[in-house]
Amino acid sequence: EKGTYPHYMLKEIDEQPFVIRNIIQKYQQENGNLKLADDIRRAMQETDRIYIVACGTSYHAGLVGKQFIEKMAGIPVEVHIASEFGYNMPLLSAKPLFIFISQSGETADSRAVLVKVKEMGHKALTLTNVPGSTLSREADYTLALYAGPEIAVASTKAYIAQIAVLAILAADTAKAKGLDIGFDLMQEMGIVASAIETLCDSKDEMKKIADEFLGTHRNAFFLGRGVDYYVCLEGALKLKEISYIQAEGFAGGELKHGPIALIETDTPVVALATQESVSLNIRGNVKEVVARGANPCLISMAGMEEEGDRFVLPAVHEMLTPLVSVIPLQLISYYAALHRGCDVDKPRNLAKSVTVE
Ligand code: F6R
Repeated sequence: EKGTYPHYMLKEIDEQPFVIRNIIQKYQQENGNLKLADDIRRAMQETDRIYIVACGTSYHAGLVGKQFIEKMAGIPVEVHIASEFGYNMPLLSAKPLFIFISQSGETADSRAVLVKVKEMGHKALTLTNVPGSTLSREADYTLALYAGPEIAVASTKAYIAQIAVLAILAADTAKAKGLDIGFDLMQEMGIVASAIETLCDSKDEMKKIADEFLGTHRNAFFLGRGVDYYVCLEGALKLKEISYIQAEGFAGGELKHGPIALIETDTPVVALATQESVSLNIRGNVKEVVARGANPCLISMAGMEEEGDRFVLPAVHEMLTPLVSVIPLQLISYYAALHRGCDVDKPRNLAKSVTVE
C-alpha cells in the first residue's frame, strides 16, 4: 500500500536506502563472506565470457554490472538488449554464461533469448525481483533482488537493487578467484545507503530543479562519460517515460559528432560528474553546450565539486556512484511529471510487465 504517499513511485524512491540495507543483510554471512550458492560461484569461475541480456531499465543496470564484473572479477562481459539479441545473435565464446536481469521475471523479449540459449545447451543465471517467475524457473540459477514489490510502472528501486546484486556477484567472483578488489563492498554499500537517505531528504531541491529547469520544455539531454553515461541513459528513460519530455542520454565525447546540433537557447542539459578520471572532460562538454545557449544542471560528487554546480552528491566509492547519482534523476523526473500533470504511476502506453515480444 502506498500509505501517505501520493504515488507509488515516490514511495519506492524513498524505500531505496532500506533496499540497499536489506540486500546487505541478505547477502552477507556472519563470517564476512558473501552468501552466494556454490553452483553460481562455480559457473562464474568456469565461464570465459558473460552475456548480460535485458530490456529497458534492467539493461541499463546491466551496463553498470559489466563494469563491476570486468573490473573486479576480470571476466569479459557483453551487454545486450534482449529483443536485438534474439534475432541478431553475436558470435559466442567457447564457455558463455548468460545473465538475465529482470525486475518482473516475465519479460517476453528476455524469455525468448533464455529459451534459445537453453536449447543451445548454455547455462543461465537470472537476477529478478520475483523468484518463482518464469525467467527464474527456466534459468539454471537465480539471484533475488530483495527490493520488495515494485508497483509504479517506472522502475526505481529495482534498478538500484540490480546494481547492488551485480556488485555482490562481481565481488564474490573476484574473491573466489583470489583477486583483491581493494575495498570492503558491504561497508561501502552501507555508506551508499546513508547517501541515498540524504538525497531522499533533498526533495524540495529536486522539485525546484524540475520546476525551474524542465518546466514546459519539450526536450532535455543528459550527458555523462563512463559509468555516468550509463546512468544518463537511465535518467533519460525515466524522464521520457513519465513526463513525456523527449529526453536522450549522450556520451559526452559524442556530442560534437552530432547531438550538439540539437542545442538551442535554454535547452535543459543535465550533466553528471562523479568520476575523477573524466571530470575535466565532462566539464568541458558542459562549457560547449553553454556556449550554444543551453541551460546546464551539473550534478557532481562531493570532493570534486566546483562553483556553479547545481547539486553535489554525497561522496561514495567511485565504483558505486550509479547507486546515488540516479536518485536525483529519478526525483527530477517525478517532479517534472507532476508539474505537467502526468499520471506518474501509470504512464500512457506502458505496462509494468511486458509479456509480449
Ligand atoms: C523502465 C521500465 C522498463 C523495464 C523493462 C524491463 O522504468 O520499467 O524499461 O525496465 O520493461 O522489465 P523487467 O525488468 O521486468 O524485465
